[in-house]
Amino acid sequence: MTVTIRRATPEQAVRLTQIAHSAKSYWGYPSQWIELWRNQLTITPDFVRSNEVYAAIDADGVVLGFYALGGEGVKRTLEHLWVQPSSFGAGVGRQLFEHAMARAHELGARIVEIESDPYAEGFYQRMGAETIGEVTYELEGLPRILPLMAYYLNNDL
Ligand SMILES: CC(C)(COP(=O)(O)OP(=O)(O)OC[C@H]1O[C@@H](n2cnc3c(N)ncnc32)[C@H](O)[C@@H]1OP(=O)(O)O)[C@@H](O)C(=O)NCCC(=O)NCCS
Repeated sequence: MTVTIRRATPEQAVRLTQIAHSAKSYWGYPSQWIELWRNQLTITPDFVRSNEVYAAIDADGVVLGFYALGGEGVKRTLEHLWVQPSSFGAGVGRQLFEHAMARAHELGARIVEIESDPYAEGFYQRMGAETIGEVTYELEGLPRILPLMAYYLNNDL
């Protein structure tokens, strides 16, 4: 499915939050974990106003996914990339990823780092990102290890 990718607006923050929650929940994490991640998964109008947030929109104007770029200068980070579960597998994630890398390149980045959900590592590898390490967080007293990935930008984009 071909989508249009546009800069997100503060008015879309509620919809983006809803997508982030439903996409994360798709992996079957316990609801108390989703609750612990509530802040991370909440997209505020202010966040949209002050960050590089882009939304994928279908022909009916429905937002199907979004991404946010963080960082600055030559090193950017992919802070969010979520697709609504009913649209998984339709190429929306790929279009968002490619847009994000093109945008990072336009902003002068040479590398984009991603702390991936373990279930999304295969997607990012498919997109050409490499696993370069891991990041460990504590969750309910236990270590949670996330793959740290990198996408290297060149001038061919
Ligand atoms: C991961 C995610 C963004 C992928 O989006 P999507 O729209 O389903 O992906 P696409 O349809 O564009 O898939 C592009 C390619 O990646 C592959 N792919 C998609 N998800 C994959 C996964 N989890 N593991 C391995 N490969 C995957 C597809 O098979 C497709 O391959 P192809 O090039 O051979 O056709 C989406 O599933 C999602 O939002 N997941 C939940 C939230 C999440 O974990 N986001 C990442 C936060 S770090």
